[in-house]
Amino acid sequence: MEFVKIIGSDKKNYMELLLIADEQVSMIEKYLYRGDMFALCDDDVKAICIVTQEKSGVYEIKNIVTVPKYQRKGYGQRLISNIIDYYKNSGSELYVGTGDCPAIIHFYEKCGFEKSHTVKNFFTDNYDHPMYENGQQLVDMIYLKRNL
Ligand SMILES: CC(C)(COP(=O)(O)OP(=O)(O)OC[C@H]1O[C@@H](n2cnc3c(N)ncnc32)[C@H](O)[C@@H]1OP(=O)(O)O)[C@@H](O)C(=O)NCCC(=O)NCCS
Repeated sequence: MEFVKIIGSDKKNYMELLLIADEQVSMIEKYLYRGDMFALCDDDVKAICIVTQEKSGVYEIKNIVTVPKYQRKGYGQRLISNIIDYYKNSGSELYVGTGDCPAIIHFYEKCGFEKSHTVKNFFTDNYDHPMYENGQQLVDMIYLKRNL
């Protein structure tokens, strides 16, 4: 039976998984403690996500990852659907930022997000090393948004 658990005190135990989605610890620590952390579980943890409040009624997914061997089985999409239910009474908009990676953007579009805006040079300005996704350097942050 699948359920969503809110992770409170032991958030750091999930660092290895969080690093799959965001590869610099100092960047993760900027949102790890102020964010809400969710885990989609059945017999064990399948996917985790961190969401922050950016303004009144405006939330942002800062990190989402499905355990690699469980990817493409719907866990990521179901976790996002649970998160939307969780915030829909207190919020109006949910954002997510990602590198310019077609597979990830496609995933968010499947989850009902639409492209919103771009933050130029986010990855080159904020990370201490160049990062690549499928051989392509990450430069700008692409924001997508969906109504809650
Ligand atoms: C992005 C991520 C969380 C998606 O989680 P997931 O559990 O594998 O996704 P789902 O199985 O719920 O996918 C739902 C739909 O999204 C799309 N999708 C998901 N991953 C995709 C991929 N790699 N390529 C293309 N489409 C993809 C598909 O349409 C999929 O439906 P389908 O399998 O029936 O075709 C997962 O790939 C992941 O953990 N990636 C590494 C971390 C990361 O990059 N996080 C995002 C940082 S911005």
